Amino acid sequence: MRLTRRDALQFGLTGAAAAALPGMGFAQPIATPTPSLNQLAAAKGMRFGSAVAAGPPHGPPTGGTINNPAYAAVLTGECGLLVPENEMKMYALRPTLDGYRFEAADRLVAFAEQHGLAIRGHNLLWHKPKYFPNWLQSYDFGSRPASAAEKLLVDYVTTVCRHFGDRIRSWDVVNETIDQNTGALRETVLTRHLGDRVIDICFHAAREALPTCQLVYNDYMEWEAYSVRHREGVLRFLEGLRSRNVPIDALGLQSHIGGDADVASATGRPEPKAWHDFLHQVTGLGLDLLVTEFDVNDRGFPSDPAARDRAVADYAKAYLDVTLSFPQVHDVLCWGMVDSVSWLNSPEFRRGGRMLRPCPYDGEYRPKPLRQAIADAIRAAPPRTPRHAPHA
Ligand code: XIL
Repeated sequence: MRLTRRDALQFGLTGAAAAALPGMGFAQPIATPTPSLNQLAAAKGMRFGSAVAAGPPHGPPTGGTINNPAYAAVLTGECGLLVPENEMKMYALRPTLDGYRFEAADRLVAFAEQHGLAIRGHNLLWHKPKYFPNWLQSYDFGSRPASAAEKLLVDYVTTVCRHFGDRIRSWDVVNETIDQNTGALRETVLTRHLGDRVIDICFHAAREALPTCQLVYNDYMEWEAYSVRHREGVLRFLEGLRSRNVPIDALGLQSHIGGDADVASATGRPEPKAWHDFLHQVTGLGLDLLVTEFDVNDRGFPSDPAARDRAVADYAKAYLDVTLSFPQVHDVLCWGMVDSVSWLNSPEFRRGGRMLRPCPYDGEYRPKPLRQAIADAIRAAPPRTPRHAPHA
């Protein structure tokens, strides 16, 4: 199918942009394989999903956005749930102190609902100063800073949770608060006034607003050797939350595997046994698990594309085999489905290197061996009782 002028108008492209469409080489929607990854997952009591971006309201039909019919076809063909890549982060929902902006996030939720897909919330507090909105970095907490900081957090979490209400059944409440190098809680303008209570306050406020929603702590401790301190830190952190009866239901395993380090080096080496032990200890605390942001950073993999795709697929299969052996995993989400839209191919992460191939589909929207590896790992996983109502 080629994009017609009517399609162009539907995506808000008019005038010169619409006229230029036929020659512009936008990707055309393809039929995705059956059974879909979500159908395979559903047969095991799981769901499969992906990150997606809203894009501007009348943006061009390109990229990892809902404006792109080719990308939307992969999402609706393969997924049972979606997660907004950026649109629900504090810097997006509250870019200035005085106002909330829900427009882009609402459009994503509407897209998901229109296609019968569930949507996860990501995230209420990305506790990493780099990703704080500017106003928060320079916020004047006044003469009673602890109560001002607590009020600010509770108001924010409550407002956002209530805005989406029960349309979101799983929230990443706190994201990346454990320092990967030290295993300690990150220090921010919020911990300066509240200490570790920052985290507890967010979880309690989320539970208060959404009593039956799944509340998740999400982080990027990985199975590679370089993550050992990160894993230890996250485990201690989760033990602390449980001992204080903080309402948390699950650990989100971001699963950005492959990492920046060379997989052939000592620190880049995967540690399946240590990873298994880590998941065993986390689930021993009574927590569920989710794979929230899966992709494979193939920077250190062979340069020949076919050999690289094979190596990526094998690496992913080995990781998913260990991870999905835990029946506490009910959701597996990729951080993007198509190589060309992956965050890892943004200039910040690619750092002038070659184009990475971290996703199950290539830049031409063709399924890769990684898609097969995910399918095989799901097929090999033990069945589990579904946790969420099925969608799609
Ligand atoms: C990334 C997005 O993909 C980028 O577009 C954005 O510029 C930065 O954030 N861990 C997370 C995600 O929890 O929110 C991040 O998403 C990727 C790493």
